[in-house]
Amino acid sequence: MNNFEFCVSTDVLFGKGQEEQLPAKLASFGKKILLTYGGGSIKKNGLYDKIKKLLSDFEIFELGGIDPNPRVESVNEGADICKREGVDLILAVGGGSTIDCSKAIAAAAFYDGDAWDLLTGKGRITQALPIAVVLTIAATGSEMDCAAVISNMDTNEKLLMGHPALLPKIAVLNPENTFTVPPYQTASGSADMMSHVIESYFDTVEAFVPDAIAEGLLRSAIKYTPMALEDPENYEARAQLMWTSSLALNGITSTGKSFMWSCHYIEHELSAHYDITHGAGLAMLTPKWMRYILSDKTVDKFCDYAVNVWGFAREDDTFALARKGIDATEEFFEKIGLPSTLGEFGIDSSKFEQMAEKAVQVGCLKDAYVPLGKEDVIEILRMCL
Ligand code: NZQ
Ligand code: ZN
Repeated sequence: MNNFEFCVSTDVLFGKGQEEQLPAKLASFGKKILLTYGGGSIKKNGLYDKIKKLLSDFEIFELGGIDPNPRVESVNEGADICKREGVDLILAVGGGSTIDCSKAIAAAAFYDGDAWDLLTGKGRITQALPIAVVLTIAATGSEMDCAAVISNMDTNEKLLMGHPALLPKIAVLNPENTFTVPPYQTASGSADMMSHVIESYFDTVEAFVPDAIAEGLLRSAIKYTPMALEDPENYEARAQLMWTSSLALNGITSTGKSFMWSCHYIEHELSAHYDITHGAGLAMLTPKWMRYILSDKTVDKFCDYAVNVWGFAREDDTFALARKGIDATEEFFEKIGLPSTLGEFGIDSSKFEQMAEKAVQVGCLKDAYVPLGKEDVIEILRMCL
């Protein structure tokens, strides 16, 4: 186990009606709030009206229409509002895209120049406005982490920024706010939270405690996703998924580990070029990556995964057992309605070279659990055809 620092100070307000606490909790940050949201789901399901009513004593500015795979243009727009109006706090009401965009706005509010500089490294994050979140979809864990992922469709890049100042101060996690999430987004969110856990679980560093937590989180996603799909207003299922998604990426499952990921960097290339849903891309890639890296070196870890996550019995043929775990992963994603081939996204092999090169470079994939070069990534993508 490596040395680590674990400090996640987000004030999590979990459960029914927890939005009611917002006025009192937000008051200490100031009066001027930038309210951010996505393409309109919160207007359809009534959450927007509820939040506006609760915050009637505050001065509210708004930035709506934030796209899934949020664009740098929205970040610049939000940062301009913050600078012009002297905003004290950003309240993100939505999913990972709205939260990530809000985090980038929070940092860009203190930067003179194009917010994209903060993603490319040309500019540095020095500080950020405080961020509060009302989460509406269980997926990314952005509500309880320090990262934001922003897309630039002009350059076909999707890049990550990270800074402790981006950690949300407050996160309202009311599972009822996820009742209206459509089936494809529910399933994609579960694939994303599972991928976050899997990326840390398969790691060169042995760490029993985080791995045991990881196995529990995976079992939770496997148990409750079908229940939420079957009955979208099943509070217990939505609640378990919501907490699973937050714990899947708040750092607890990577404590003492190397935190070198693989599939996410490949998926970010697919999103950057084809604007696909992040979790759905991961559901397609993850089992292929697993098959590709299965070897004498990794087979024992895959056996643990098959036994502790999927409930298979130990057997002498370790490769057969490992493959059972991988098959179960692939079948699960298919069962919850997610694509298993690039063709289902309408993607062909024309950009494989370009995407593979960038994924290896941005993700430092040569240092991953199983080191991946450009040709390896191309092969994994080919397996998805
Ligand atoms: O935009 P609206 O109208 O709100 O609709 C959204 C959107 O179409 C809809 N939705 C969300 N809550 C809903 C709802 N529809 C009905 N009822 C509700 N309650 O779902 C769609 C997807 O929303 P989005 O915010 O894009 O989903 P998600 O939370 O999966 O976020 C994905 C983004 O987060 C990034 C991804 O790359 C992607 O850009 N990630 C962020 C991470 C982080 N900050 O740590 C890590 C992740 O690995 C990931 O990369
Ligand atoms: Zn993810």
